[in-house]
Amino acid sequence: MTMAGTTTLLLVAAALLAASCGAWEVTVDDAVVAPLIHALRPLLGSGRHAGVACDSWRLGVEAYNVRDWKTVPASCEGYVGHYMLGSHYRRDSKVVVDQAIAYVDSLKLAGNGKEVWVFDVDETTVSNLPYYSRHGFGATPFNVTSFNAYAQEGSAPALPETKRLYNKLLSVGIKPVILTGRAEYLRASTATNLGRQGYAGWMNLLLKAPGFKGSSLAFKSSERQKLQDAGYIIVGNIGDQWSDILGAPEGARTFKLPDPMYYIG
Ligand SMILES: *[C@@H]1O[C@H](CO)[C@@H](O)[C@H](O)[C@H]1NC(C)=O
Repeated sequence: MTMAGTTTLLLVAAALLAASCGAWEVTVDDAVVAPLIHALRPLLGSGRHAGVACDSWRLGVEAYNVRDWKTVPASCEGYVGHYMLGSHYRRDSKVVVDQAIAYVDSLKLAGNGKEVWVFDVDETTVSNLPYYSRHGFGATPFNVTSFNAYAQEGSAPALPETKRLYNKLLSVGIKPVILTGRAEYLRASTATNLGRQGYAGWMNLLLKAPGFKGSSLAFKSSERQKLQDAGYIIVGNIGDQWSDILGAPEGARTFKLPDPMYYIG
């Protein structure tokens, strides 16, 4: 936001506060106030973690400087919740997808049916906010039992920006490959969830086999290697975790969606 924008926002906030003193008549409806609260919260109460403000902590996470963290710092729960539920998360995702679509437009495609794009599932094709909003936005330790029960409902909403990219790729003949660290037994519920949210026409849905012992990074790299060995060209790869987009072969270009709620190595 520009300085002028911030100033305007603060003036509007001051006007809303003044209105409650009866100085002027101002009609305040929730639709107007809610985005204002989301916009103001990071300015007024960003919270601190070990002396670092939550917005700086989030940047550290996104830039892969902060690694191997287990939970969102308790003092940042409110900050992360506002980030995820307000417009900021959507805006940040839009920047990523705008860049991805510009990249697709710049490609000279062979159009031979061998060009694929790898998509992660959680916080990439679909959003688990309905779950995480009930579990401290990542401030409480991950519970695989309750998360998998939620995943089995197949009710997670699509991330609209990712869907825009997905449809773009289909329209130019690049085949989506869905590659997720979810366990194999979640295949049916994951496929149902994706279908309900309008994702169709993928080439593969790859889930982690029961016996696989390694990290998410190792699993995903090995699956991409198999694609490449089978003659596919991975023209792009998008995920919310660094472990989605690191590890050869990564794909010709990678895109990192925001996720300040959890870390998977
Ligand atoms: C994890 O979730 C399950 C199912 O909701 C619950 O029974 C269990 O107590 C939870 N475990 C922890 C450590 O909170």
